[in-house]
Amino acid sequence: MSNHEKQGGFSHEKVETSNFLMIVLILVTVAFGGLVEIVPLFFQKSTTEPIKGLQPYTAVQLAGRDIYIREGCYNCHSQMIRPFRAETLRYGHYSVAGESVYDHPFQWGSKRTGPDLARVGGKYSDEWQRIHLINPRDLVPESIMPAYPWLETTPVNAASLAPNMRALRRVGVPYTDAQIEGAAAEAQGVTELDALIAYLQVLGTYLK
Ligand code: HEC
Repeated sequence: MSNHEKQGGFSHEKVETSNFLMIVLILVTVAFGGLVEIVPLFFQKSTTEPIKGLQPYTAVQLAGRDIYIREGCYNCHSQMIRPFRAETLRYGHYSVAGESVYDHPFQWGSKRTGPDLARVGGKYSDEWQRIHLINPRDLVPESIMPAYPWLETTPVNAASLAPNMRALRRVGVPYTDAQIEGAAAEAQGVTELDALIAYLQVLGTYLK
């Protein structure tokens, strides 16, 4: 150790030999770095503004989204196409932040046991989705995706939709009073399978 460090008081050695000081200074550094990276994103239009034409989920699509989350589909499926050639060739245009501004929480993820679903909307018919969700092996014999047969016989919880939409409106999703009031009626008699398919069929369809 040099004389200079001994007298300097706040020497490198002091930091490296004190657990407490080390932890505090690391936290300060990481917090500062995080703020510098994250805070500007709140003010950047490209990350906070919806893309042109983006619509909030309808009541039925929203019900489907809740089922998607409840069933843990995100444990195997991401919803974010990365800006690499291999990705865009397979899935289509890479995902942009403005597509997800009405998603709370967003479903980007990174787990890809199954294919990315960010642009699965319109890729298959409703009938394909129906058969696939009831038993994936009827369409893809080697599939390891679980079967979800109960969705077909379970009605959507229509009463939960209006409160759900009201909560979403509070965090910035532009639902109108009419949409919220009509939610229960829209979801009347709809099965969970129908709702989940309605959700899947709209995924990624707004980016032109
Ligand atoms: C254990 C992992 C796993 C879970 C959980 C899972 N999947 Fe899958 N999924 C897969 C695999 C693997 C494939 C590819 C084989 C196939 O098509 O069945 C797939 C395929 C798909 C496809 C077709 C995608 C395409 O582009 O061909 C859709 C749509 C889909 N899953 C939706 C869902 C939904 C909705 C849920 C939740 C209800 C779900 N998956 C849960 C593994 C999973």
